[in-house]
Amino acid sequence: MPWLYRLRCFNCHTQYPAQTTNYRCEKCGGLLEISFQISGRKTPWKNRSLSVWKYRELLPIDNDQFITTLSEGGTGLHHCPRLGREIGLKRLYVKNEGENPTGSFKDRGMTVALSKARELGKRKVVCASTGNTAASLAAYSARAGLRCIVIVPKGKVAAGKMLQVMIHGASIFQVSGDFDEAMRAVVSLTGRRKGFYLMNSLNPFRLEGQKTLAYEVCDQLDGETPDSLVLPVGNGGNISAIWKGFSEFYTLGVTKTRPRMIGVQAENAAPIAKAVRRKEDKIQPVTNPRTIASAIRIGSPVNWTKVLPAINESHGTAETVSDKEILDAQRDLASKEGIFVEPASAASIAGLKKSRDAGRIDRSDLVVCVTTGHGLKDPSIADHLPHHESYTLKITQPNWIERLERIL
Ligand code: F0G
Repeated sequence: MPWLYRLRCFNCHTQYPAQTTNYRCEKCGGLLEISFQISGRKTPWKNRSLSVWKYRELLPIDNDQFITTLSEGGTGLHHCPRLGREIGLKRLYVKNEGENPTGSFKDRGMTVALSKARELGKRKVVCASTGNTAASLAAYSARAGLRCIVIVPKGKVAAGKMLQVMIHGASIFQVSGDFDEAMRAVVSLTGRRKGFYLMNSLNPFRLEGQKTLAYEVCDQLDGETPDSLVLPVGNGGNISAIWKGFSEFYTLGVTKTRPRMIGVQAENAAPIAKAVRRKEDKIQPVTNPRTIASAIRIGSPVNWTKVLPAINESHGTAETVSDKEILDAQRDLASKEGIFVEPASAASIAGLKKSRDAGRIDRSDLVVCVTTGHGLKDPSIADHLPHHESYTLKITQPNWIERLERIL
């Protein structure tokens, strides 16, 4: 059973009962969040194995019979000394979310939100997506036997993600704009038809699953907290969820500190990073966002009101990175540490490099970089890779062994 919780407006703090299905405050239109009564609680999960559901008491599902799972969470926290040395860090870890069942961090949120959808008796679930949310929702809907509808920007979703959505049997609608257009369509559909349940990160139940990344990192570091946590930012659901997770562990007394949250965006899709760097309290949406990191090609992030406080309260910062920096970081992580991530995820490594070079992160800091999605999702990146000399070598050539030795 979960501990006692309610919904609360992030903006005006109006409280709503646990069964509320709205995602915005009726009074001020602010985003809702789940608020647990946790102070003074003892944590019972010490001897359970690492996974999202390890932290059952902090997940707002009332009845276990509705839990829909594919074994999400429990992803590796990999020490990366070779890349760390290159970046100039003594302790660099990568929390590799590509190890989740559908290959991205979305599964953490989806197991909780899908379970909630079932608990609320919903039969049709819907999302807008740059690909990973759609892939995850499609898989969890198939698992639960719910109808799944995804709206995606036409021609802008990586091939692996489209394949996932199709194989899991979801209905796909394509809009001929960008992600922000797809998001507007989903908000309009779910606003007009109560039978369709919105599964984007506007849904506060989804963020409850995603916050477990913070719990896992603390557990994997034996109660130590990173000095900085670096991650890519699109809509901003993940960074705000993870900040909530660290804050809950801090309030519970499990940890003594909280990390600085460092959000990374692609330079032509960076409304949040720009607002942070200019110390503004509002974002300016970007029209026609562009980046090779299609997962975070977002100009109007729906969770921006939650993101700015997460970065500011944590004394964090935000970085912007170019496509070239993203591709270089993707190759570095794959070739130096054996971890293959999609471009959006590599943005966190690229952003970390920049933060370190600019002296915003200390050499002695304990840094955790979150890589959000698996590299196999986006095979189009192969076109950007240089071919090794051995690629053109033919073993029909008489002296091919000598040539091979020379190349190596
Ligand atoms: N990294 C990856 C691989 C993503 O797919 C996303 C978001 C993010 C980072 C950013 O996370 O939106 O919580 O700030 N993908 C969404 C999708 C938009 O539809 O799959 P965020």
